[in-house]
Amino acid sequence: MHLLILGGTGEAAELAHQTTTRPGLKVTTSLAGETRNPARLKGAVRSGSFGGADGMADYLRQAGVDLVVDATHPFAAVISHNVAKACSTVGLPHVHLVRPPWERQEGDTWIEVDDLTQAAKAVAGRRAFLTIGRVELGWFAGMEDSWFLVRVIDPPAEPPPLANHHIIEGRPPFTIGDERALMSDHKIDVVVSKNSGGAATYAKIAAARSLALPVVMVRRPAPPDGPTVVSVEETLEWLATHQA
Ligand SMILES: NC(=O)c1ccc[n+]([C@@H]2O[C@H](COP(=O)([O-])OP(=O)(O)OC[C@H]3O[C@@H](n4cnc5c(N)ncnc54)[C@H](OP(=O)(O)O)[C@@H]3O)[C@@H](O)[C@H]2O)c1
Repeated sequence: MHLLILGGTGEAAELAHQTTTRPGLKVTTSLAGETRNPARLKGAVRSGSFGGADGMADYLRQAGVDLVVDATHPFAAVISHNVAKACSTVGLPHVHLVRPPWERQEGDTWIEVDDLTQAAKAVAGRRAFLTIGRVELGWFAGMEDSWFLVRVIDPPAEPPPLANHHIIEGRPPFTIGDERALMSDHKIDVVVSKNSGGAATYAKIAAARSLALPVVMVRRPAPPDGPTVVSVEETLEWLATHQA
């Protein structure tokens, strides 16, 4: 059987690692192709957009895919809706692997917002640590009374549209000690994060708590309807029931 994993997350990489050794299973991971040096993955890899849900349906038929796991990031809502639609069109079983969101702990000061427009309003006039990647920095453009520490995996090809900023490169996981030092060194007074969930990037949330800093936490977009699992282990159980 041919398993397609929609990737771009640590869980997708772990799933590929755990399934490629299974007899009778061919594994392909699909990446959007935006990260310049993605981590090496087990199994086959295809890269680049499909051309919407219809393009993905064509790919699923042509590549002879039998099973699909959407293991994309919880904020990658477009591709997740495309996966659900394409699998419904072709009649393939699919499951959405989505890690649980972080929950507020005692000592956390979270300002929960629905999107990055609201996040930008919440950090006006402050020194903010932006941990949202490089693609969506435009929401913070023109904020001349604010200062931004921006962490990215790949440096942007062009300077970001931010009035006052400093860019650092970093690939998760991060440690609480390093995150605390970074926030202190740059006199950060607020952290901006998507509620991505998972362990790899949680250190910034724990570090902010320990420094009594507020976190502007962006809530997740609505996922598509359909079956959901929350871990690689649960995904393997789902696969076992469908790999007849
Ligand atoms: N959004 C985040 O905060 C975030 C964080 C970490 C990692 N990522 C990863 O980065 C990738 C892009 O995220 P995004 O938020 O830009 O996604 P998105 O807004 O949901 O998707 C935008 C378009 O990119 C293409 N695409 C996205 N993921 C793809 C994949 N795995 N394989 C092939 N094409 C893909 C699709 O193009 P077509 O419609 O033309 O097929 C999709 O319509 C995803 O793989 C995601 O797992 C995202």
